[in-house]
Amino acid sequence: MSIQYIAEKGIFHLQTPNTSYIIALKHGLPMHVYYGKKIDSIEGVWQAVYNVSGVYSYDPEVDDMWFSSDGALLEYSVAGSTDKRICAFCAEFEDGSIYTRPVYKSHRIYNGKPKLSGLPATYVESDDEATTLEITLCDDRRELVLILRYTVFEVLDVITRGTDIVNLSENDINIKSAMSMSMDISGRDYDFVHLYGAWGKERNIQKNLLINGNVSIESTYGASGHYHSPFVALANKNVTESQGEVMGFCLVYSGNFYAGAEVNYFDMTRVSMGINPRGFSWRLGVGEAFVTPEVVMTYSREGLGSMSRTYHKLFRTRLMRGKYRTEHRPVLINNWEATYMDFNEQKIVDIATAAKELGVELMVLDDGWFGKRDNDRSSLGDWYVNKDKLPNGIKGLAQKVNDVDMKFGLWFEPEMISPDSELYRAHPDWCIQVEGMPKSLGRHQLILDLSRKDVCDYVKEFLTDTLSSANIAYIKWDMNRNFGEIANAEQPHRYMLGLYDICEYITEKIPDVLFEGCASGGGRFDAGMLYYFPQYWCSDDTDACERLRIQYGTSMIMPTVAVGSHVSAVPNHQCGRITPLDTRAYVAMCGTFGYELDISQMSDGEKVQTKKHIALFKDIQEIIHAGDLYRLRSPFDGEDSAVIYVAENRQRAVAVYVKMLAHANTIPTRLKFAGLDETANYVDKITGERYSGGVLVNIGITLRINNDFESKIFVFERID
Ligand code: GLA
Repeated sequence: MSIQYIAEKGIFHLQTPNTSYIIALKHGLPMHVYYGKKIDSIEGVWQAVYNVSGVYSYDPEVDDMWFSSDGALLEYSVAGSTDKRICAFCAEFEDGSIYTRPVYKSHRIYNGKPKLSGLPATYVESDDEATTLEITLCDDRRELVLILRYTVFEVLDVITRGTDIVNLSENDINIKSAMSMSMDISGRDYDFVHLYGAWGKERNIQKNLLINGNVSIESTYGASGHYHSPFVALANKNVTESQGEVMGFCLVYSGNFYAGAEVNYFDMTRVSMGINPRGFSWRLGVGEAFVTPEVVMTYSREGLGSMSRTYHKLFRTRLMRGKYRTEHRPVLINNWEATYMDFNEQKIVDIATAAKELGVELMVLDDGWFGKRDNDRSSLGDWYVNKDKLPNGIKGLAQKVNDVDMKFGLWFEPEMISPDSELYRAHPDWCIQVEGMPKSLGRHQLILDLSRKDVCDYVKEFLTDTLSSANIAYIKWDMNRNFGEIANAEQPHRYMLGLYDICEYITEKIPDVLFEGCASGGGRFDAGMLYYFPQYWCSDDTDACERLRIQYGTSMIMPTVAVGSHVSAVPNHQCGRITPLDTRAYVAMCGTFGYELDISQMSDGEKVQTKKHIALFKDIQEIIHAGDLYRLRSPFDGEDSAVIYVAENRQRAVAVYVKMLAHANTIPTRLKFAGLDETANYVDKITGERYSGGVLVNIGITLRINNDFESKIFVFERID
């Protein structure tokens, strides 16, 4: 049993293979005692739960002037009394006050992990994979119940958290903050590690010092967004890829979120994460429950690399679902950068035919196939084919693509509506808007109000109709604008519930279709979307050099198999850089791997090279997509970048090294590898050179690479 309850002391001990998490009940409140390296015996831990008096006020419900909730290390924080830090829960009651004091009532420990109603979450396939603890807190005066839920995975160092709020009273309550978790840690000796970005430069790694005050990231854009990912880690100041303590917190949610670390006057650090309270409220009716999204926590003493590998494995195996969780991802070609919206049937068939000859498996038709869509000013919502471009319809085009033995995929932007569309003219009230007020446009479009059931039903219907009308094997699900004006503070979360409901419906209805998410590139690439879409277009910036940083940052949490990555033309369309075809291919191989250029216009030499790249990728795809990732050189730290993927049995590995800018008068670099078996011998299948694992890991290979954007790939195979 990985969760123990020591009744006489009121202590819960949660254990994963290498970590312990300890909660103690005191004054009816669950106190946070410890999250860290696994402890077998916790004899004597009780003394670690001490009372501290807050500066100005004693707790009103505890007869001990040495106790104040403002100075306590709590498991879940509730606003309204003496705890003046940022609290996870806040609600306004019938009397206008926010005071409440939910205290321990009962708990339940059981095998398995419950499904979250209406929300994405990690899962188990059999009950023996995890154990769950639910601690029920009640405020009998308010008739309010909070259920703190913890699930401990049996074979991974993962604990998930979430909170349910139940209103048992006779009156509605107005929830103002319902975060999934908070956790108070003694001390503040951590860096706040997070991922920030913008369009075309997503997920840069940033490490900030904690301050006495609050450090936080958030989204208020209606989607998790380009600017911050719903993930933070608290890490030792000198944390590296392989050493140092790190606690990761990742929210399985795709809407407005908040993640913060607040340090108080006693140097206690409160980590909180969940739906962003800013701009949020929720009327919880009599007898209703509010379920918060899940937070996935992991702890490691072996640096950021170990944290990432835990997330990768969990997300690959117990967040992603469906056939493509295990099935190989087709090498695809997308026509976007090849033609933009200027194409016809013949052009797409030509690209598909040329691509097939080189080994590509799936042809994706991007934006511009429907309504009167020749630019981004119209037609979102009019999901009927433009017969001028495609006289034989989607069915006819799909057939022609299938005839050259390629699968066919199609782009949609189901959540949007153009003001210039038949749909808008028929249903002007279907978009998110404040009645009687002006509406902001983003990329000339508005957002369908998915908080409405009738609008969701319409989206389900047109998707089902189009998908059943032709042989479509793949969908790119795009979303190209953020929220502007909202009608009420419940709308953003209701929108997410509507979107998740559509995603659940459609992925269940057509389980064999591969979905790739997209939001102007990687603007909603979060764990919530991964539950429905097992791959995600990582960024609209397709330049190989820029992608090194974007993909490196993304790999903090996201498994490589989910990272949409393509070879594109040079000069690159986003930044004009000219990089060698090898480098573009190797960088794209560190993801799902595909093409986004007019392959029919390639020179014969480029075609030969491309055919080799695709054959190589098919040979090593399994290692890259299911292997363990070790980051070797950070593109954020210098002028080169390197990663290695090691198969679980350490028989094979693939490494990619890329030089960014070269400099004069430098010496060769020695690239050390990681993750390999140091007692084994390996051969590099590319060069035929043999090395011992010990040499590769500890001494490394000397690289004489000194041209801008030059790269090298290694394919190691064990030989003893
Ligand atoms: C977004 C996507 C691109 C492409 C265009 C089409 O920007 O990120 O990949 O699909 O939309 O309009």
